[in-house]
This record gives sequence, C-alpha cells and structure tokens, in this order.
Amino acid sequence: MGYTFTLDDVRALSSPEGAAALAEVDTLELSTRTHLADIGGVRARFGAATAALVETVLLRRKAVAKLRGAGWLLTDDALQQATPTLVAAVRARRLTGRRVHDVTCSIGAELDALVAECPVVIGSDLDPVRLAMAQRNVPAAHLLRADALMPTTRDTVILADPARRAGGRRQHRPEDLMPPLPDLLTAYAGRDIAVKSAPGLDFDALGWAGEVELVSLDGGVREACLWSPGLSGDGVTRRATVLGSGGFAEEYTDAEPDELPEKPVGQWIIDPDGAIVRAGLVRHYAARHGLWQLDPRIAYVTGDQVPAGTRGHRVLEELKYSEKALRQVLSGLDCGALEILVRGVDVDPDMLRRKLKQRGSRSLSVVLTRVGRTPTAFVCEPTLGFSK
Ligand SMILES: C[S@@+](CC[C@H](N)C(=O)[O-])C[C@H]1O[C@@H](n2cnc3c(N)ncnc32)[C@H](O)[C@@H]1O
Repeated sequence: MGYTFTLDDVRALSSPEGAAALAEVDTLELSTRTHLADIGGVRARFGAATAALVETVLLRRKAVAKLRGAGWLLTDDALQQATPTLVAAVRARRLTGRRVHDVTCSIGAELDALVAECPVVIGSDLDPVRLAMAQRNVPAAHLLRADALMPTTRDTVILADPARRAGGRRQHRPEDLMPPLPDLLTAYAGRDIAVKSAPGLDFDALGWAGEVELVSLDGGVREACLWSPGLSGDGVTRRATVLGSGGFAEEYTDAEPDELPEKPVGQWIIDPDGAIVRAGLVRHYAARHGLWQLDPRIAYVTGDQVPAGTRGHRVLEELKYSEKALRQVLSGLDCGALEILVRGVDVDPDMLRRKLKQRGSRSLSVVLTRVGRTPTAFVCEPTLGFSK
C-alpha cells in the first residue's frame, strides 16, 4: 500500500528544493540495518516532508528495473500497475505518428513512451495525485482530469489500461475492472482503441472483433492488449510479442502460415514462450522456424535446430513413460540436477523429481507429455538459458 501522497507532496517534491532534498536522501543507504538512524537524520533536516522524501527515494530504487529514466514521481500502487518501459515502447511504436489519448494514464509510464513517437499525446485519469505526478514525469503530454467513460477528445487513438479493483486480486472478469471493460468498449465503439489487460482475461467471452496481442518480457507473460480492427494488421486476430531486456524482440501473428510436417521427434525439443502458447500461435512459431509439433494437441515443438535466442532440450532418449523406466534411464545417464517439463499428462513435476531421487553429476531435463495416446518421456540435455 505504501505512503499516501497528497497534491502538496507532489508540489513540494517537484520544486527545486524538493529535487535537492531527494538527491540528499538518495545518498543514504536506507536498508533495514540503517533505517532508524537514516530516518532520524532525514527528520532532523526535513521535518514533516520525511515520509514523502524517503518513500519516493525507495520507490525510485525499486522502479529502476521497470521504468526508464531516473526522476519519476510515483506511488507504490502506481509503480506496480505501471507498464514496463520496454513493453510501452513497443506499443507506442505501433501508434507512431498518431494523436493518442491515454484515458487511464496514472503516473504516465505509457505517456513517456508515446511522446517519443506521437505528435500529440493526451493523458487523463480520475486520480488527481497521479495526474500531478504524470505532469511532472512527462511534461510533453497534455493532461486533464476526466472519467475514461466520458470521451473528451475526438480524432485520437484511445489507449486504456483499466485497473484491477483494490485488494490486488487478479481480475479475470472484464466487468470487474475499473473502469469496467465492456463499458469502456461501448464508450469508444467505432474508434481506434488499444486496451491493455491482464493476460488471464477471458477474451472469448468479450467477442472481440479486432486483434488480441499477448506480450511476454524475459520469459514471463506480462499482459494482453486488445487492438481494434483499424489498428490491427491485415487479417490479424492473434499476435504474440516476445521481448527480452537484452533487446530481443520477436512477433508472431495468425496471418502467417501454419502448415507443419508430421514427423517423429527431432534432435531438439523446444517449449515455446508463454505469449506464443497463450496466443494459440504454436503452429505459426514452428512453421517460421522449420520445426514441427510432437503432437498436434500439445504445445511442445521439435526439430533439428533451435531458434536463435531460445532455450532448447537436446533429446538423448525417448521412452514410454513409467516412473520405474524413467528412473532407470536417468540413473544410466548419471543424472543429478533434473528439470521436469510436463504437458498433457497428469504428473506433478516437483513430486516426481523428489521421488526420482537422482544423485549423479549431469544436469538433465525430462519432457513428459502425450504423443497420440501414449504417455512419453524424452530425456534431454538442456542448453544453458540464453540472455534475450
Ligand atoms: C492500471 S492503472 C494505469 C497504469 C498506466 N497505464 C501506466 O502504465 O502507468 C489504471 C488507472 O486508471 C485510473 N482509473 C480508474 N477508473 C478510471 C476512470 N473511470 N476514468 C479514468 N481513470 C480511471 C486509475 O486511477 C489508475 O490510475
């Protein structure tokens, strides 16, 4: 939850004196070990401003991994809700040259990416403190306090990122978001709109006519984004965007070919990125890289090479799965550390790893799945994780 900032706090923190005080507080360690002494020192220098100063410095340190730039004003909740810079930048690039209105702009994480791409960027939110922070964070954006459900601009592309209700529980029902997603879509019917949402949202229940994009960053699926038909690519209804902090960026869409050969397992097995799996684009991914599926209903793919920047499992042995047979094969290969990947069979990987009790020296992986009706284990040597 964190400290509750006021408009006066934002004004004070935005002043030259506030900036100097923040720089001074940032020289302190502020760790568990030094916290009491540090706070005492800050209180002696800055009195009632202590909480706002210390919270801002701590939040800025936390924000480093997520938000580009140094001098953000932010709240704990707003930081958690903020779109990571890398993801916001990719979205902004799709809107290059357009006039864009972010109708739930919060502290401006998306605005910051948009101003680099778009000639006119407008931000609005209901929360006056977040708006004041956004004004300071992204001076090039035009800001106003407005309800996202009441359109306030014309001839703009609408960007929205409805919040989950307080309490932090994951919301999978579109009508439980704030503002409710169905109301938002009705308010902007017929307009170009992009709506960020949780990846677990039930998109099929929405009956969305445009594109659904799933986005992952460093292997974790971060978000989905609904793009209205006017903003989606020709014939695209599903897109997977795979991003890595090291600069990796790939996109797959359902407008690409998805014809695959039917062949037995190749030299490698690959577990596609979660964004590709959730977007239903495993076949498109495999087709692009000359791979094929182990089984048409299972998301593992296989082939004789591993796509660049991707982790693969080199197949050493294939066997009909039983715990006993698998234990024997693993012991014969001097297995020690063991990674178990499971799809399509009812096995708990952690429990199985404990039961298999391997004490050898070689790091191996097991891909446990169904090929046709047969539960099958592929014993593999995993490649090291690549840095994307
Ligand atoms: C998930 S946050 C947006 C985060 C933002 N995209 C970013 O990257 O920083 C949702 C925002 O919607 C605002 N909000 C909720 N209901 C609203 C409404 N009816 N109209 C305008 N803003 C609203 C909240 O105050 C909150 O700042």
